Amino acid sequence: MSAAELEATAKAMVAKGKGILAIDESTPTIKKRFDTINTESTEESRRTYRDLLITAPGGNEFISGMILFDETIRQSSADGTPFPKAMIDAGMMPGIKVDTGAKDMAGHPGEKITEGLDGLRDRLAEYKSLGAKFAKWRAVITIGDNIPSMACIKANANALARYAALCQEAGIVPMVEPEVLMDANNTIERCYEVTELTLKTLYSELKDQDVAIEHTILKTNMVISGKKCSVQADVQTVADMTVKCLLNNVPAEVPGIVFLSGGQSAELATAHLNAMNATNKDLPWPLSFSYGRALQEPCLNAWAGKTENVEAATKALLHREKCNSLACNGDYDEKMESSA
Ligand code: 13P
Repeated sequence: MSAAELEATAKAMVAKGKGILAIDESTPTIKKRFDTINTESTEESRRTYRDLLITAPGGNEFISGMILFDETIRQSSADGTPFPKAMIDAGMMPGIKVDTGAKDMAGHPGEKITEGLDGLRDRLAEYKSLGAKFAKWRAVITIGDNIPSMACIKANANALARYAALCQEAGIVPMVEPEVLMDANNTIERCYEVTELTLKTLYSELKDQDVAIEHTILKTNMVISGKKCSVQADVQTVADMTVKCLLNNVPAEVPGIVFLSGGQSAELATAHLNAMNATNKDLPWPLSFSYGRALQEPCLNAWAGKTENVEAATKALLHREKCNSLACNGDYDEKMESSA
């Protein structure tokens, strides 16, 4: 893929009013999700569920691409069409999760380092042949007593930069994802500080390793109060502090920024994105979504593993996709939730 194609892919990922659906849960993670709806996680039940998410009619109006898991990129729709082809036929780009998970970091209790660089060049070549246009690598930064350490932030940023360079070499757009976790008891100010340090370190590593920043997409956390913090910042504060942190630390050449939901409720994740876009009309990059749970949860619950619920589940998914698409332009209204 030429530089022009990488640029076109990155731009299309964050086209106006469009975002990315993350359906790249690893096998253990999707099992946890299926446990909540008392559904057994088998290769076929996972295929059936992902089929529903991928082929929801009209989803392409709101969704530019989806992040798949290794198993899913090799699976097919009920009519036998391989999932990547079904997506491309509908005008959506297949993406692929290529890290192999966040593991305990040696010598750093409570911290994680993401693995998956070994053999990545060959895996990327195969994913490219299967239709992947972009890839994702998630680094996890944990807030706690005396953590994160600089060692953890640096090691994760270094791995993200090495992964991004390999992606660009393979003609795949890297979606670099440093996720500062949201579930501790920290204040929003502490989240700001840690997110700032993480982003600064990331962009310094990307630069050192000659990654073309203009051919990357940033997927990041919002700046938000930890879930267990007794003071929860309101929607506008989250929006303002997130935008401020991004403006101070993300180069203007980045073609787009998408957010993970990180355990926020579906409606709150939409409200936060909407507030950012409603109050900031001249940002250097589009701000969009790449949610997993915040797009899927209502759909998963409506489906509950039953064929007869596919229609209701599809409706629930499309509703969330539409709300978030509107939030990309600051046009979402909470009232849309009650009329759904
Ligand atoms: P959540 O939106 O559920 O946090 O997941 C997004 C994602 O892809 C995390 O890597």
